[in-house]
Amino acid sequence: MVSIVFKAGAGDADDWQRQLSQRIPDLDWRVWPDVGDPATVHFILAFKVERGFFAQFPNLKGILAAGAGVDGLFADPDLPRGLPIARIVDPHMTQQMVQWAAYGVLHFFRRFDEYRALQAKAEWQELGSPTRHPNRVGVLGFGEIGGAIGRGLLGLGFFVQGWTMTPRDLGPIDNLAGLDHLDAFLASSPFLICSLPLTPATRGLLNRERLSKLPKGAVVLNLARGGHVVTDDLLALLEEGHLAGAVLDVTDPEPLPPQHRLWRHPNVIITPHESGLTTPETAADQIAANVKRILAGEPVQNPVDITRGY
Ligand code: GLV
Repeated sequence: MVSIVFKAGAGDADDWQRQLSQRIPDLDWRVWPDVGDPATVHFILAFKVERGFFAQFPNLKGILAAGAGVDGLFADPDLPRGLPIARIVDPHMTQQMVQWAAYGVLHFFRRFDEYRALQAKAEWQELGSPTRHPNRVGVLGFGEIGGAIGRGLLGLGFFVQGWTMTPRDLGPIDNLAGLDHLDAFLASSPFLICSLPLTPATRGLLNRERLSKLPKGAVVLNLARGGHVVTDDLLALLEEGHLAGAVLDVTDPEPLPPQHRLWRHPNVIITPHESGLTTPETAADQIAANVKRILAGEPVQNPVDITRGY
């Protein structure tokens, strides 16, 4: 038997079970906290765990992240070193996130924010130029998702630059790398899209000082993690008019409480952490393949590097 404990947080447990049992015939499926004897558990499938979670399972063979971002697993400082950890890279999810980012950029670039406000007053007013901002987009983090977003926006006629921690060849897309070049990157990004992994090195990266480096009238999009952006700093710069708007799929805190000022800012668009969903139907193949690889002693696909934190 292959015993997997599923911890809720991404997708429906019954759906995961249905999809995985078609691919792993001897699946022993357990849903946390109803785990039976923890010593007989081989795999964890989870999106987010709490401190102390992994210590209860002494005989794990591998950890399967139920999403693309794995910061929720690192929330347990005792995430076992030395065990294979795999994350999800799902082209369906990536495509959804490209669409989300394109919508957010085009909303402001093509002045839909202004036309919505005019429509609310039933005012037929031609704004003249169809666009408002320079057509430049900066994508922070150029992994699977950031890279696809950058290429998607390139296809929509934007000049795209990508910022990465270490220098990378991004093909037709300009690369700026490292904290030394971050200010220059921000200064030339009227649209900034955050698609970084959340690690100790990137938490709070977009604070007042950094966001102030964006050109006046810039728009910030975040579809990574709320923890990348200092919410009060973002709000202050929106209220002061330095930023023209924000499109946020993730917030800090999350879920965003009903009384939070972000909800009511006219130039903030919020979606509830749904820019790209992990669907068991499309992700089950790679999870089942990784289970088989781990049992056969082979390296996993889409491995997580525990020292890098993503
Ligand atoms: C969602 O936020 C994910 O990381 O998959």
